[in-house]
Amino acid sequence: MKSNKDYWKAQDYTLHANFVSALAQEVMQDLAPRRGEKILDIGCGDGELGAFIMEQGATVLGIDSSANFVETALRRGVNARVEDAQNILFEDEFDAVFSNAALHWMLHQEKLITRVFNALRSGGRFVVEMGGDGNISLICRTLTEILAENGIDFASRNPWIFPTPDEQRKRLESAGFSVVKCCLRKRPTPLPTNVKGWFDTFCNEILFDLSDSGRDEVIDSMVERLRPLICSSDGIWTVDYVRLNFVAIKP
Ligand code: BEZ
Repeated sequence: MKSNKDYWKAQDYTLHANFVSALAQEVMQDLAPRRGEKILDIGCGDGELGAFIMEQGATVLGIDSSANFVETALRRGVNARVEDAQNILFEDEFDAVFSNAALHWMLHQEKLITRVFNALRSGGRFVVEMGGDGNISLICRTLTEILAENGIDFASRNPWIFPTPDEQRKRLESAGFSVVKCCLRKRPTPLPTNVKGWFDTFCNEILFDLSDSGRDEVIDSMVERLRPLICSSDGIWTVDYVRLNFVAIKP
């Protein structure tokens, strides 16, 4: 059975995934935080975007399931606490609920969306960027192949959900939201280090029951199988990210 270990390390994230906040312009423009607003940041991570929202004069509460991330966000001066967004119990509290690159880790999307709807005041907005249909498909295909070669079924432990715009629009409308934007965008993303760093940052949960040497073997095989597909001749690794951006209003 999967453990409840905190697999996130803020330093790894800063080193191998600094693009996550750096590429958040579209979702931040969609949010357009205003002075005096009260904003919930779901999956606040190390608090970098929460701090930016605070600089615009809004009040931020960040939540994240990782205590390591919450500690880092608090050190940065962002009010944050450990909480699974799928279980929040706020009522009419927030002007906006925001999330960047976190919702695809939450497999109970209907429950999450209902809880967010309840957390917003009437007229409040739910503004999100997450992985969408086709996201990291080369990585998922290679993980499926290599784990199968090691007797492991990736599908049964896949921690990610990458919805189509239609699927997500239906979920949002069923919860009562009025959807003003919901679209996919391909965003091939060069990595600041390499795909091994990406696996070390994001795949610990998937490989949780392997020994250290078994884990290293799987990651080395992943790197070699992906090299001809996503590594350029000058050594730049580019991952096939696809973003789903949506804005939904609580009537
Ligand atoms: C993403 O941001 O799309 C993502 C990052 C890590 C793992 C899976 C998806």
